[in-house]
Amino acid sequence: MPASTLARFQRITPQQLRAFEATARLLSVTKAAQELYVSQPTVSVQLRELAATTGQRLFETTGRQIRLTQAGEELYKAVRDVAACWQRFESRIAEINGLVSGRLRIAAVTTAEYFVPDLLGPFAAAHQGVEIELAIENRDRVVGRLHQGIDDLAVMMMPPDDLPLERIQFQINPLVIIASSKHALIDKKIELSELSNDRWLMREPGSGTRMAAEQHFDELGFKPNVVMSLGSNEAIKHAVAAGLGIAVLSQLAVQPALWPGRYTTGAGTQHNGPSDTSVLLQAGLGIMQVNNFPILRRWSVVWRKDSPLSAAARHFLDYLQASQSEPKV
Ligand code: PGA
Repeated sequence: MPASTLARFQRITPQQLRAFEATARLLSVTKAAQELYVSQPTVSVQLRELAATTGQRLFETTGRQIRLTQAGEELYKAVRDVAACWQRFESRIAEINGLVSGRLRIAAVTTAEYFVPDLLGPFAAAHQGVEIELAIENRDRVVGRLHQGIDDLAVMMMPPDDLPLERIQFQINPLVIIASSKHALIDKKIELSELSNDRWLMREPGSGTRMAAEQHFDELGFKPNVVMSLGSNEAIKHAVAAGLGIAVLSQLAVQPALWPGRYTTGAGTQHNGPSDTSVLLQAGLGIMQVNNFPILRRWSVVWRKDSPLSAAARHFLDYLQASQSEPKV
């Protein structure tokens, strides 16, 4: 570190960084002071000293609101990096002492909500010192979180290409065409072209399910008559059961008991897991037997190559790989 940088670094106090972090997060000096149990002038002095040391304005005022300047944004990022680095250090020490602790942040796409809790349950029971935070969002939002480096790991079907990612692939995610159990073609083996007059329901733009379905339709040169977009798998299921149209959905969303299952390609999907067909029928739904379906995609757990994994995340990946190599029933 150059001497001038070191001199500036040595002038910065932990109190100044705490005052800055709280103010940047809450965008209020009053709230930061309340959170830190100090007076408002104390926070203001610390912020002024920090601005003087960095030689930068860190906040600007618009009306009665404050917001970070560009330099302030950069400092806020640096402070968060220091906090993350400290957290990794603590979890490394805990690991050296034989304990895995810390926070495990996972983002999962909405369809993964049908199995991620099953994966997390035994892991959480075996690692009681690990605090798990699970966020469920659609693909676009999970990709956004990966860009921002919010999570340790993300579970999704179609990881983005524009980020340096490591990945482990695991179970297959078959995407099937579902229809009302009363649909005239529900028990027939059919071609996709026979569904060109049907009304199609799609997940919202930004959904990975929608993206996979659109890619597959494009490859097959099929143009579905899309009449509605719905923002969740459950909404799609209810709308399809009500006869509003047909849709492409992960089979797990309609038959969650298939997890973990075995799937083979070929004339349709085969599995050796519990079939759960009664659940499907009770819901008023059926899976159509359409040539070139299901679309077989794999689930991946991904993480950023450019950010070191926490001990908790490494242990979760080891656990995931061990559980996948066990023979499935
Ligand atoms: P989504 O999930 O449709 O909820 O986005 C599928 C995926 O992206 O893997």
